[in-house]
Amino acid sequence: MHPPVSTPKTLLRKTILPRWPLACRGLASVLIILGVRGGLHAQTSPVPLLPVKLADYSPALPAHFLLPAVVQQDNTPADNPITNAGATLGRVLFYDKRLSANQTVSCSSCHRQQSGFSDPRPFSIGLAGGLTDRNSMGLTNARWYQRRSFFWDERAATLEVQVLQPIQNSIEMGLSLPTLVSRLSGETFYADLFTAAFGSSTINSERISRALAQFVRSLASTRSKYDLGVGVNFSNFSPEENLGRRLFNGETGTATCAQCHGTDNFSSGPRINNNGLENPYRDKGVGAVSGRAQDEGLFKVPSLRNVALTAPYMHDGRFATLEAVVEFYNSGVVAHPNLSPPLRARPPAPGALRLNLTAAEKAALVAFMKTLTDTALAADERFADPFPTITFHDADLDRDGRIGLNELTRVVELFNTRYGHGPIRTGSYAVATEATEDGFVVDLGHSIDSTVTLSRYHAADSNRNGKIDLTELARVIEFYNYRSGVIRTGAYHANTGTEDGFEPGP
Ligand code: HEC
Ligand code: HEC
Repeated sequence: MHPPVSTPKTLLRKTILPRWPLACRGLASVLIILGVRGGLHAQTSPVPLLPVKLADYSPALPAHFLLPAVVQQDNTPADNPITNAGATLGRVLFYDKRLSANQTVSCSSCHRQQSGFSDPRPFSIGLAGGLTDRNSMGLTNARWYQRRSFFWDERAATLEVQVLQPIQNSIEMGLSLPTLVSRLSGETFYADLFTAAFGSSTINSERISRALAQFVRSLASTRSKYDLGVGVNFSNFSPEENLGRRLFNGETGTATCAQCHGTDNFSSGPRINNNGLENPYRDKGVGAVSGRAQDEGLFKVPSLRNVALTAPYMHDGRFATLEAVVEFYNSGVVAHPNLSPPLRARPPAPGALRLNLTAAEKAALVAFMKTLTDTALAADERFADPFPTITFHDADLDRDGRIGLNELTRVVELFNTRYGHGPIRTGSYAVATEATEDGFVVDLGHSIDSTVTLSRYHAADSNRNGKIDLTELARVIEFYNYRSGVIRTGAYHANTGTEDGFEPGP
């Protein structure tokens, strides 16, 4: 018998077990749990779907990321290295709209994975429809920035400091940290995720900051066409891409790009720069923070990795395309008093540098910048939204976020009576890997008759007798009701002829 249910924490510890205990708990105890939980907390807000096995958020870096010039750009603090559980928590926080006061905006609203974690709009839209005053910054390889500070004007000294600011910003997310902490403390799955990441279920802003920073630092692009070229002397590049690379690096022609977008991270070195966008600057950048004239127009520039995905460009999103950016550097740089030396005309000529690039050279620079696109990162599940768009299980007929006894009876009935007849098409039938789509662990050591295809088994049918009995069923409910974060049943997503054989709900 299940011990009396005292705290939700007890439940978590039970349900987090990666493998089912041999002694199964009875349905009756599950129903007791249901009663208690139902009274405490109506779980209607979305719960993330996460892999049973933690994803790897700090895979080995390729050799060119281990060179001193790159290592010294790494802004990871000694006391907050990336861990798989920490970055997983960070991922959930990054996509959770609970981080905004009215629960309409998440970090990802303005930092979209398919846009290099930037925003395709020149200015982003905050929780109440207000516009940010600058263009959202791409976050690819934000981990590597020699000066360590964050934001266009570098006003946040570290990433740990930065990540809490959008939450509290009145235009962006508008939520106080105490309110955030108490809101997250009401969610069972967060206690679980904080425990995994930090060893206890305590939720506080320091842990939120550390987890978010870990996730942002894990957004590392190391497998772009450029990266693949490093080891083979760029023989994988087209002639145009190679021309662009040499122009960018100043190996040919007049461009000086690499002086400010340097190393294999294409980010600036010890200096923050003014690239002569206008004079005077409407937005004074660092100058607005320091109040000093010599800081007017100084702006951080995020790494150019994934730059083809992060349009529009510059702190105010003034250029819609990379072509427009290149044309600006070719002919439009303004001779601002603070203009950084690499963009000044060569003495004795006055004013700003003019590149006089041919059309082919301009196109080559753009082609080169496109080799920094990492399509795998843009689609990588580790960095994707973990919150399902359909948050109910099809068996949850009354859509209250829980599977009740009457609903359950239908599941058994359907499964047991229609077993083998097609209409039950749960994804778990076909899953041969450890982590099934129901969150159940299939014991592959189990003597599954190899002449019978795996698809004959529902993962919940742990004794493989072709029926789901009450004991087995108890686990299904328990998993669904308390750990829906790890139940990856296809039924969550199916809209038609669902994978549980249930008709879709309204
Ligand atoms: C409403 C849109 C919006 C939301 C929501 C938002 N951001 Fe941003 N983010 C921006 C804008 C705009 C900037 C640039 C602001 C500036 O420099 O003044 C930015 C800058 C950043 C930077 C600095 C990057 C660099 O290289 O310096 C990081 C990191 C970042 N955001 C992370 C986050 C995280 C984490 C969250 C969620 C907690 C978040 N953002 C929520 C719009 C948003
Ligand atoms: C003197 C330093 C300097 C040089 C040289 C330079 N840039 Fe920049 N670049 C910057 C700064 C600073 C910004 C951000 C300015 C802002 O938004 O106010 C920037 C922004 C950009 C952006 C937009 C990034 C984004 O996320 O919005 C691109 C693309 C870019 N530069 C490409 C180039 C190319 C190509 C060259 C060579 C033709 C070049 N840069 C030369 C300093 C430089």
